[in-house]
Amino acid sequence: MRIIVARDYDEVSYKGANLIAAQIMLKPNSVMGFATGSTPEGTYQELIRRYEKGDISFKDVVSFNLDEYVGLEKDDPQSYHHYMMHNLHNFTDINKQNIYLPDGKAADLLKECKEYDSKIESYGGIDYQLLGIGTNGHIGFNEPAETISNDTMVISLAQSTIDANKRFFEKEEDVPRQALTMGVGTIFRARKVLMLVTGEGKAEILEKVLFGDITPQVPASLLRMHPDFTIIADEAAAALVKNRI
Ligand code: GLP
Repeated sequence: MRIIVARDYDEVSYKGANLIAAQIMLKPNSVMGFATGSTPEGTYQELIRRYEKGDISFKDVVSFNLDEYVGLEKDDPQSYHHYMMHNLHNFTDINKQNIYLPDGKAADLLKECKEYDSKIESYGGIDYQLLGIGTNGHIGFNEPAETISNDTMVISLAQSTIDANKRFFEKEEDVPRQALTMGVGTIFRARKVLMLVTGEGKAEILEKVLFGDITPQVPASLLRMHPDFTIIADEAAAALVKNRI
């Protein structure tokens, strides 16, 4: 595990984009796992800048997303499909056929989960997985639980996640109660994992991830066992750990 402490959100975004750009330069047909949330927005802006400068091309990149809300249409402004198109994909040369997210409107959600995993496997697995982290330690939408889920699945959102994500919706009742998410196993099988952690609101959970028990009750703590796991945290998020790393 590597931990990089950056000054602030902008520096996290800059450094995060450096690592992702390096991956795409080294392997132009990388299978990327992308994340949503406010944390990676700056990294996506940096990546678009590098694409516009001609440093990288997404022409042969394949993009899988971690998760999607159940019940939202792809063009719903709150859907993760919409987020990815508007924060990254619409601004690069990625082949639109190479963009995959679980379909939260699928008639048979379990079948959709199985097909999503098969699709990832058909590309030989994920080369590089980008992650944020929920304040309760969730990754994707893998909420704190007794057991670790292996494959993509349907989950019910924890109340703490509904509370954290309601800021994106008009009212709390609008937050979908279910989502499809890659399992921790799916995430763990990625060859490299990069987690971005920013803001003082994430300081406590980052301390648990780094120094607490490795437990499915703090899903991100499991990544300490991943062979190629990098965290980039800003000073605010690293406040409780920076003297110990
Ligand atoms: C959502 C996503 C996660 C993300 C988390 C944190 O719940 N499913 O993938 O990491 O939000 O979001 P933010 O970066 O806005 O704190």
